[in-house]
Amino acid sequence: MPGAIYAEGLVKTFGDVRALDGVDLDVPEGTVLGLLGPNGAGKTTTVRCLTTLLRPDSGKAVVAGLDVLKQPNEVRRSIGLSGQFAAVDEYLTGRENIQMVGQLYQMKAKAAKARAEELLEQFHLTDAADRPAKTYSGGMRRRLDLAAALVVSPPVMFMDEPTTGLDPRNRQQLWEVIKQLVSGGTTLLLTTQYLEEADHLAHDIAVVDQGRVIARGTSDQLKARTGGERVEVVVHEREHIPTAREVLAGFGKGETTVEEHTRKLTVPVTGGAKLLAEVIRELDVRGIEIDDIGLRRPTLDDVFLSLTGHVAEVRDDENGANGAAAKPAKDAKAADRGQKKETTQ
Ligand SMILES: Nc1ncnc2c1ncn2[C@@H]1O[C@H](COP(=O)(O)OP(=O)(O)OP(=O)(O)O)[C@@H](O)[C@H]1O
Ligand SMILES: [Mg+2]
Repeated sequence: MPGAIYAEGLVKTFGDVRALDGVDLDVPEGTVLGLLGPNGAGKTTTVRCLTTLLRPDSGKAVVAGLDVLKQPNEVRRSIGLSGQFAAVDEYLTGRENIQMVGQLYQMKAKAAKARAEELLEQFHLTDAADRPAKTYSGGMRRRLDLAAALVVSPPVMFMDEPTTGLDPRNRQQLWEVIKQLVSGGTTLLLTTQYLEEADHLAHDIAVVDQGRVIARGTSDQLKARTGGERVEVVVHEREHIPTAREVLAGFGKGETTVEEHTRKLTVPVTGGAKLLAEVIRELDVRGIEIDDIGLRRPTLDDVFLSLTGHVAEVRDDENGANGAAAKPAKDAKAADRGQKKETTQ
């Protein structure tokens, strides 16, 4: 039986650009799938197809047990969406924006008011609640957009890069909100460009590149495929690079990369802090002075490098044409607005 979000062979082309080239996904109920990929990979297009904002050229999609192509209105009633670009009404205050969503969901005025209060608090917008949204900073708009997407808790949620543009504190807080949401049984598909974020939140990660899912697994599985952690060393003298390289090769589980101008050497390892101590000792024995040394976890670039043999690149045709997403998804008018934007791009 397919999960709460299921896609098979989704294809979407825009002129010559094959934005989706056969995307398959399956997200079990009550879990979080992180859709991870570089700019232009097809993340937003996938979300838009699954949320009825865009019709795929071919393929199949089922969300909350409903056929996305055959029952779009029913799908909209069962999902929530926070798009990549905050969709807030500039002229309404933060409070009014959230209350309006409650009313669209046919909440009683009193209940909508109380829920708005709660969300404003949760997203640290209470002080700015009565200012028009056009006076908000980027991070505040993003938070308002997410708050509005959470007015009711639909069984299936989509969040397109929910934390892009948030400062570290707000990002952490949003992660907590998302965790709470999921512990209540919501199924979530979120897109991100950060492995760290997927790491924190997702049960399962699908790496997308050029409109295809190129790898799938838990964060640990993906990291294992990239060779786990890295040791990074910055040597003091440029002429010590070859010897340091030799030392690292002795400990590494893969190729050592060297950045000559910063005198930085990086090698994938397994063995953590204990191994790091051994590397330091060996460098010392060989008389190599170091400016910096540390262990770091693989980044999205490392994952990409090992999966595709190239680092994540921005596609030439990337034009930021992601369209605005609708919210709430139940609001068919909002969805239509999204579709109109699509045709005018
Ligand atoms: N409406 C559109 N018209 C033309 N091309 C589009 C449109 N929407 C998306 N594309 C193209 O499809 C490809 C995938 O875009 P998409 O927005 O899905 O990427 P993304 O993974 O969300 O990227 P980002 O990380 O930058 O948000 C890109 O090459 C993009 O330029
Ligand atoms: Mg996008």
